[in-house]
Amino acid sequence: MKTVFSGIQPSGELHLGNYLGAVRNWVALQEQYPSNLFFIADYHVLTQPYDPKALPGRVSEMVLDLLALGIDPDRSLLFLQSSVSQHTELAWVLSNAAGFGDLERMTQFKDKSAHNPEHINAGLFTYPVLQAADILLYKAALVPVGQDQVQHIELTRRIARAFNHRWGATFPEPEVALTNMPKLLGLDGKAKMSKSLDNHIALSLFADPKKLRKRLAKFATDPARVQREDPGNPDVCNIFTMHKAVSSEADLAWVRQGCTTAGIGCVDCKTRLAENLETHLAGFVTKRAELAATPGIVGEVLDAGAVKARVIASETMREVREKLGLWPSR
Ligand code: AMP
Ligand code: TRP
Repeated sequence: MKTVFSGIQPSGELHLGNYLGAVRNWVALQEQYPSNLFFIADYHVLTQPYDPKALPGRVSEMVLDLLALGIDPDRSLLFLQSSVSQHTELAWVLSNAAGFGDLERMTQFKDKSAHNPEHINAGLFTYPVLQAADILLYKAALVPVGQDQVQHIELTRRIARAFNHRWGATFPEPEVALTNMPKLLGLDGKAKMSKSLDNHIALSLFADPKKLRKRLAKFATDPARVQREDPGNPDVCNIFTMHKAVSSEADLAWVRQGCTTAGIGCVDCKTRLAENLETHLAGFVTKRAELAATPGIVGEVLDAGAVKARVIASETMREVREKLGLWPSR
């Protein structure tokens, strides 16, 4: 029985990149696989500056977002990383199967430490080991994530292999599941859309439509299209990439024809995209409002998920302790 496992940090509002690059795959896979676990990676948040007072609210918002997008607690476990203590327990064990040089090569570590040089802590460095523990604790076979996480999943495979080699076959090597849009670009059309680094420029999924339009207005388009009368190339334009995710064939043809002949301007193209995004997201927005009005729902879902996740996690840790030769705990 294959297990699907993935997670997200509660470090900011869920954005279109999270949805198109990862979460819509979680929803699709939960229809196909019998065992699905999705979690909120709150321990990972500690590696970067954050506001402890705002964290509980962020977790709660993220749970509502995920439920609204279609994560179904009857099919999937949804839980909080810090509620299952075996994540950090296994992370220590796995840090003895992770290569120092491998961790040094992680591009996310390099990027985040360059972005925040006064905040390079050991947790940021060993973060991928905790991520490996998250996945291996449930012996996951499939991990749906965006492109930026692929290197971490490859490292997880190496860690699983090293553990199995040293202490005996225990963990399967998980595979990555990507969507057809594994890296959605952000405001400048160059760097990926990101909630933790550039919260102010990501396209939040549940933002009010006016705000969405305003943000979209600032997004870069084909850099070669300087004047309204210059023809553009949709294939190098981030706005067209987003159209492909939410617009009809007729609208895609309208953009291609209009952009390449300068028949339409970037403003027209963005206005149509904003309308189509709104239509695409309308059902989620309604569902989220219903969920937000249901008292106690977040706590109930997280508690039920944690109870079940702990059963699997403690069985894996029992097996790991035995393999390691640790004295049996009672
Ligand atoms: P994060 O926001 O870093 O916690 O990421 C949560 C999930 O969304 C991970 O699977 C990421 O790989 C994915 N993701 C984040 N940003 C993007 C993006 N710009 N495009 C596609 N996927 C993304
Ligand atoms: N590192 C992931 C991110 O920033 C979140 C995450 C933590 C995760 N543990 C995981 C994703 C395990 C998949 C599997 O997006």
